[in-house]
Amino acid sequence: MAARITIDDLRAHKTKESFYILIEGKVYDCTKFIDEHPGGDEVILAEGGQDASEAFEDVGHSEEARALLPAMLVGEFEGDGVKLRSGAAAAQASRVSGAVEQGSNLMYFVPLGLLGAYFGWRYYSGAA
Ligand code: HEM
Repeated sequence: MAARITIDDLRAHKTKESFYILIEGKVYDCTKFIDEHPGGDEVILAEGGQDASEAFEDVGHSEEARALLPAMLVGEFEGDGVKLRSGAAAAQASRVSGAVEQGSNLMYFVPLGLLGAYFGWRYYSGAA
């Protein structure tokens, strides 16, 4: 039976001395591979302790790259790795869109409010 890797196991292996990576529900020990990675070590190290599936897919890794994975397999990830990441990403996205929305509302209401105040003042002061 394949080992079940928990989120704590994953987070316990995110240094260059011992590095696990989570891709599509499977955990790989790529400690020895980090220095050989054609894309550099930093991009892999940045994916420590979280679901790297999206980052791995976005690069469009070749079949040769995918063929390297089975040899590094440690076990199945216990839990939903995609949620692990998208939960944080979704929270961030909603914070960003919230801020943008708030900003764009202000963009309309502040000038409109000033315009309204100006005409209100002209009307009541009889300056028109
Ligand atoms: C253990 C998992 C990984 C393996 C086995 C792997 C393997 C490879 C291989 C063999 C290449 C050469 C091009 C190709 O054949 O597609 C490559 C390129 C690349 N990889 Fe990975 N990779 C892994 C994880 C990652 C992760 C998590 C990232 C994060 C973004 C990443 C980013 C890149 C980039 C940016 C390149 C392009 C380098 C270039 O074209 O200059 N890789 N990888």
